[in-house]
Amino acid sequence: MRETKQPVAEAADLGSILEKLERLHHIRDLSTLLDSILTETRSLAQADAGSIFLVEGKKLKFSYVQNDTLYRNDFLASRYIYSNSEIEIDKSSLAGYVAATGESLLVADAYKLGPGVPYSFNPYFDEISSYRTRSMLIVPLRTSKNDMVGVLELINRLDPEGKTLSFTQRQRSIVAQFAFYAGVAIERALLLRDVVYKMVMMAAMRDPEETQPHVNRVGSYSVEIYRRWAARHEVPKADIDAFQDLLKMSAMLHDIGKVGIPDAILQKKGPLDEDERERMKMHVLLGARYFENPQSEWDTLAREIALGHHERWDGAGYPGLASDANLSRMPSVPGKKGREIPLSARIVAVADVYDALSSKRAYKDAWEEERVLHHMRMESGKHFDPEIVDIFFEIYDVIKAIRQKWE
Ligand code: C2E
Ligand code: SIN
Ligand code: SIN
Ligand code: FE
Ligand code: FE
Repeated sequence: MRETKQPVAEAADLGSILEKLERLHHIRDLSTLLDSILTETRSLAQADAGSIFLVEGKKLKFSYVQNDTLYRNDFLASRYIYSNSEIEIDKSSLAGYVAATGESLLVADAYKLGPGVPYSFNPYFDEISSYRTRSMLIVPLRTSKNDMVGVLELINRLDPEGKTLSFTQRQRSIVAQFAFYAGVAIERALLLRDVVYKMVMMAAMRDPEETQPHVNRVGSYSVEIYRRWAARHEVPKADIDAFQDLLKMSAMLHDIGKVGIPDAILQKKGPLDEDERERMKMHVLLGARYFENPQSEWDTLAREIALGHHERWDGAGYPGLASDANLSRMPSVPGKKGREIPLSARIVAVADVYDALSSKRAYKDAWEEERVLHHMRMESGKHFDPEIVDIFFEIYDVIKAIRQKWE
């Protein structure tokens, strides 16, 4: 996207940088974040193309690319073209040099690097794509503790007529400043992923039945059901891909509120009595309490799922409009009904019950497959959204493959 037609005034610069940074702060999903970082820095520097490498172990891994000239209308190709290439973190390549030294680089023409520099330009990408890389601006992405998380490369600064210009020293300092905050945002997205996995482990330690495999299955079934739902409803492919990471993490945490339920109930070997059941139901309100930041897309989704996964399509589920997580038992109020229940929660309800019935629990044996499928069919339009049940059966071979993978 080339939106700047002339050199930008300094004050306008500052305002727009702050605005762009503000947008980054609300993104927690890694691929969405990388996409935004490239869009914003390219617009700051009028760059035709750009890519991000992330540090993985001792290498740099090509993680994201945008290129207006090559892929104006082909988002998917632009994202995945390089996805397997890796670069050593040493001074022999441009990106490797920046990661190894922490210095940024300004290059006027990638094919005419000065004499005596240790790095060289790898023309592989230009050769396979017939693109011509000329000017480059390459800056490190660092965390708040100054650890290197990656490298941002901006390619070919273009004037409004499409002529390639060199990046300026001023752009170098603006982009480097921006990259510093972007590095912190990337660090947070990686941290979030890690925290989700740790929360899941924590729940698994408390509740021997809520095992890692169970949680992984519910996350994976939910993603597969959503992908089919989204294809039917013509959701753009790019949106599906951006949403599925969030959905998977959120679905994995659907029962996280069970950590607030006493062991005597949670781990009871037999059926719960009436009072215990009503206390157990509080796990949906306890879970929702973890995710109360309404500005975060991720919290919003995780909350929807924690709160809504025991609602029923026919309105006989819980918690309906109950919301007080400090109560000791679920108040008796009507459930939400039909499309009042968020789509995410309707999907996780199907995934969760299918998995609970097919698995052994402290209080029950695993059911036979036939009996499980009969139950799912019979509850269509009662417990479950009929469209979600249809999709479940349409993709049942995938569901079974997931079950086998996480036995
Ligand atoms: P869960 O074990 O993950 O079960 C999730 C949901 O699957 C249940 O939500 C229910 O809709 C369905 N489900 C599980 N087992 C059966 C079954 O044998 N028959 C039928 N018809 N449906 C089943 P629900 O009922 O709201 O329960 C929520 C959570 O409460 C359960 O999660 C489990 O942790 C606990 N729980 C429910 N009933 C009992 C019980 O009798 N004994 C014990 N120890 N825990 C129970
Ligand atoms: C949604 O996209 O959340 C609404 C779709 C539905 O209610 O079926
Ligand atoms: C069954 O026990 O097979 C069916 C019971 C139910 O649908 O909850
Ligand atoms: Fe639950
Ligand atoms: Fe569950």
